[in-house]
Amino acid sequence: MKTAVLISGRGSNMQALVKASQTDGYPADIVRVISNEPTASGLDFAARARIGTDVVNHREFDRRESFEDVLHERLVAAEVELVCLAGFMRLLTEHFVSRWFDRILNIHPSLLPAYKGLQTHERVIEDGVRFTGCTIHFVRPAMDSGPIICQAAVPVLQDDTADVLATRVLEAEHRCYPYALSLVASGKTSIVDEKVAIDGVTELGNVLVNPPDGPA
Ligand code: GAR
Repeated sequence: MKTAVLISGRGSNMQALVKASQTDGYPADIVRVISNEPTASGLDFAARARIGTDVVNHREFDRRESFEDVLHERLVAAEVELVCLAGFMRLLTEHFVSRWFDRILNIHPSLLPAYKGLQTHERVIEDGVRFTGCTIHFVRPAMDSGPIICQAAVPVLQDDTADVLATRVLEAEHRCYPYALSLVASGKTSIVDEKVAIDGVTELGNVLVNPPDGPA
């Protein structure tokens, strides 16, 4: 499935998707990387990987919808079928989301619906929760919302700073996003009542307890 990745910065999740797409039998092909930030360092990686890149600088538009129209044109020109947001820090309106309904994925560094928005790791540490994680979901117009495809739980440790925790969560992101994209691109997902059903996934995976449980 022809897939575009939208970024705003370093694009490490985009890199994970590109690397996965280069493995045998992977069902998505990354055909375009688009950034709203002209200086996004992820663009260099994409160019080195011989993937076509575009910059659509949101500052050059008065209205969000006009920015989105150009984004849409670039995606159509590249014959894109699926869009992955990977650290793309612009909110997309109904105008864009309705045109790509059920064809936009996003990754967010928390266990949604908890900790939507920015500064997730700082807020997680402030609240003293034992687990955080990452979520890959289909995009709806409201920020960080939409049917959830895949989540990974990541423990929060006693001495974590936001940076240390961000690094641990990012490792999980790099595992989960390629997996979620492969589920969608291979047609294994369907959305029923705004929930994602996945063909052939019935087993319970690992159960984590934090702090580790032992004899009482
Ligand atoms: C990632 O942690 C991603 O989950 C987050 O931005 C980072 C981008 O890193 N996205 C959001 O916060 C979106 N709400 P990357 O550019 O190295 O992939």
